[in-house]
Amino acid sequence: MVATHPVGVQTSGNQYLPTGNGDLTISPNQELLPLTARVNHQDFLEIGGCDVTTLVQRFGSPLYILDEATLRTACQQYRDTFKQYYKGESQVLYASKAWNCLAVCAIVDSEDLGIDVVSGGELYTALQAGMNPDKIYLHGNNKSRQELVLAIESQCTIVVDNWYELKTLVELTTTDSPTRIMLRLTPGIECHTHEYIRTGHLDSKFGFDPNDLDEVFAYVSQQPSLNCVGVHAHIGSQIFERQPHRDLGALMVQWLRDAKKYNLELTELNVGGGLGIKYTESDDPPSIEEWSKAICEVVQTACATENLPLPKLLCEPGRSLIATACVTAYNVGSSKTIPDIRTYVTVDGGMSDNPRPITYQSVYRALVANKMSAPLTETVTLAGKHCESGDILIKNAQLPKTEPGDVLVVMTTGAYNYSMASNYNRLPRPAAVLVADGEANVILQRETYGDIIRQDCLPERLK
Ligand code: LLP
Repeated sequence: MVATHPVGVQTSGNQYLPTGNGDLTISPNQELLPLTARVNHQDFLEIGGCDVTTLVQRFGSPLYILDEATLRTACQQYRDTFKQYYKGESQVLYASKAWNCLAVCAIVDSEDLGIDVVSGGELYTALQAGMNPDKIYLHGNNKSRQELVLAIESQCTIVVDNWYELKTLVELTTTDSPTRIMLRLTPGIECHTHEYIRTGHLDSKFGFDPNDLDEVFAYVSQQPSLNCVGVHAHIGSQIFERQPHRDLGALMVQWLRDAKKYNLELTELNVGGGLGIKYTESDDPPSIEEWSKAICEVVQTACATENLPLPKLLCEPGRSLIATACVTAYNVGSSKTIPDIRTYVTVDGGMSDNPRPITYQSVYRALVANKMSAPLTETVTLAGKHCESGDILIKNAQLPKTEPGDVLVVMTTGAYNYSMASNYNRLPRPAAVLVADGEANVILQRETYGDIIRQDCLPERLK
């Protein structure tokens, strides 16, 4: 079998080598490794100035390793390109469903990003991290009354998804302090991505049907307890084309125009997230700057055509902000060779810390952190340790010869890995460390067996 070499390989047959070299002008979503990744004098992989193999010895395995510089760079690139290309006000929100925890919220907050939360739990975390409610937007297609009350009391903005929610909000809000809302509409825009992560097409559970637009605007304009500030849409995730978002921006400006008929002065427009990232060498997403520029331009042009003032422009990327900043490191354990069929190499995690391959058939790339210049001599199936045949992290991974104890690194695991992690087979969830300038800080503790049974109850009669 011919090895397909990841980007950045200088000589044929070698492992993926870092190409970022600490260059923070690169768009992180176009790389496979964090921007600070480099090979040290021992031939080991280093991220954020920390030796990955040593981190695993110190903090255990599996381990999520989050590179602060890469995350901050992505935040800055979004924030600065919106400022550069958009003449009105702008606000980039981080879609925290990609990875929500106190430390990540605190980092994006310190970069002046706001945050999109999609449940009471995510909202609570953002508030606990000290985020200003002015920059928190609550999403969700079936928010509970309890979640709505938390949002109203904390004075964040609620992105209303449907009639049921709208009418519940009218019950829960008061005219003396109107609640800020936005309306989420389904734009009916198709994009090429996995069916489960497409949301903008008409047959979607999210958002108001655009055919109801007039009725929704008419209703909202009559509600003194609701301060409707704008419209929102999100068309899907892991998108490489720019045209769907251009179409979306232009369409949304028409919604702003239509709202005027109902005396609704909508001043905010949120185009959602969705910019894709490079998971493999053949993925070629636009850069953060290219994507942002396309949106800024289309909204400005459409507003000029409609003779409308520029709204405050918001977007809410998740994956492209954080995916590339993180790798997951595992220890290699057992292996099994089935002659003429395949070799399985197993790591000490799997579908519980990265459910994306089994859920979406997502493809990842890996390398061996303690053998950076070893030649790629093996084609193996990288398996997890779960009691499930489908628990495969990577099919046909090109690796050097591995041995038990090697440190295997799966790249681009910052988005929707920890946030979708489970305790399947009662595996404790891994720890996460934040690395920067040679320092590593735990941001999520490794779960213990005590944590595993913490919520279990044993009725007296079973004792
Ligand atoms: N805004 C809304 C309303 C969303 O529903 C999403 C993602 C985003 C923003 C952020 O999209 P991004 O920039 O990350 O593409 N678990 C799946 C992804 C589900 C995405 C859900 N919504 C995965 O692992 O691929």
